[in-house]
Amino acid sequence: MENNNWLYQWSRVTYQLTVVIIAALILLLVQVWYVANPPVEQQDFSNHPFVKATQEATKSLQASLAPSPILWKGPDPSTIPNNPSGDSIRYGRELIANTAAYFGPKGSIAQTTNGMNCQNCHLEAGTRPWGNNYGAVWSTYPKFRARSGTVESIEKRINDCFERSLNGKPLPEDSKEMKSIIAYMRWLGQGVAKGQAPAGSGIMDLPYLDRPADPEAGKVLYEQKCVACHKKDGQGQLAPDGKTYIYPPLWGEHSYNVSAGLYRLSRLAGYLKANMPLGATWEKPQLTDEEAWDIAAYVNSMPRPNKRFPADWPDISKKPVDHPFGPFADPYSEKQHKYGPFRPIKKWYEQQAQAKATK
Ligand code: HEC
Ligand code: HEC
Repeated sequence: MENNNWLYQWSRVTYQLTVVIIAALILLLVQVWYVANPPVEQQDFSNHPFVKATQEATKSLQASLAPSPILWKGPDPSTIPNNPSGDSIRYGRELIANTAAYFGPKGSIAQTTNGMNCQNCHLEAGTRPWGNNYGAVWSTYPKFRARSGTVESIEKRINDCFERSLNGKPLPEDSKEMKSIIAYMRWLGQGVAKGQAPAGSGIMDLPYLDRPADPEAGKVLYEQKCVACHKKDGQGQLAPDGKTYIYPPLWGEHSYNVSAGLYRLSRLAGYLKANMPLGATWEKPQLTDEEAWDIAAYVNSMPRPNKRFPADWPDISKKPVDHPFGPFADPYSEKQHKYGPFRPIKKWYEQQAQAKATK
């Protein structure tokens, strides 16, 4: 017998509806849960803090285990032999370390330089990794250099620094002093294969900035990081006897002239990055690359002796991109050659070379 009770019929419909709705709800919930928690293989854990921490730890472990590159550093001075040739080597080393005592304005041999020591720029008598050391001198000279357009002897290269970095007069090539400096460089170069420039020799190359280096920003940094020693006026500080600098000058009449290597921005920035402020090393630099470029721009924007060598760069297309004096083979200004950006200039020369090669 059919139950025609309306109440009964109605409750049956509601019952069925409720079941369908609950089922739909459960399905929906499963769906939502699944979207929120996809199977492990589809999940992106790369931003999970735990994963990040593990990655960092792995990286620093790898870095601490990776062998740091073996950079050249000079042989131990205590191994200089005790004989007449050793005496010459020792004297050469002494001349590098205390140049001003012999050739400065109060020098005992001659008064022919600005009072700086070779060692002010060639740190630890030219033995420090990335401290503008002499690791590649004996092995690579004599060599052709585009600045002079000739094959240069070691004597010529040493005298370049006497005339430019020390803004002075060259040493006679047959003098005892020149011979001793060369004996020292030869001793330093023992164990470096002919033609090789060992890792860490000379000055570090920093990546170019994409903008011009900024002397204004550099001034602010200079006043924070350099004035304690080199002074606000950049004149450094003389020792009480007035013969040598405790802190060498960075510009002005006693500094390197505009034809010196450090007047190229890349050389100064690379020197600063690995060596200044005093105490910095290539492994523990204290300046970012940008700071090094900007401070270099400030230092080289200040006045200094304007000694020029008209015979330099007989082939103007061989001038380095940061040589700041025209004429140039490229269309860029002296200002861009001084402060950058250098990449476009470099690219221009690469394109010229390519065009030539495919012709
Ligand atoms: C104001 C800084 C400064 C002073 C002081 C200085 N030099 Fe230099 N010297 C340089 C720079 C910069 C270079 C070029 C480094 C480069 O281009 O990588 C250089 C290069 C040299 C080189 C060639 C190195 C190579 O591997 O090709 C020799 C040799 C040298 N100097 C000797 C001397 C001697 C000797 C003295 C002292 C009479 C001296 N320098 C003083 C800055 C200086
Ligand atoms: C704590 C003192 C100290 C501070 C700070 C310092 N320097 Fe030096 N700096 C020296 C000394 C000392 C030398 C010479 C090193 C030697 O003869 O062994 C030197 C050498 C130099 C040279 C090469 C020689 C010259 O006179 O051209 C330059 C360039 C230079 N410093 C730039 C800087 C700049 C830029 C800063 C700031 C970023 C700086 N230094 C901070 C002490 C300092």
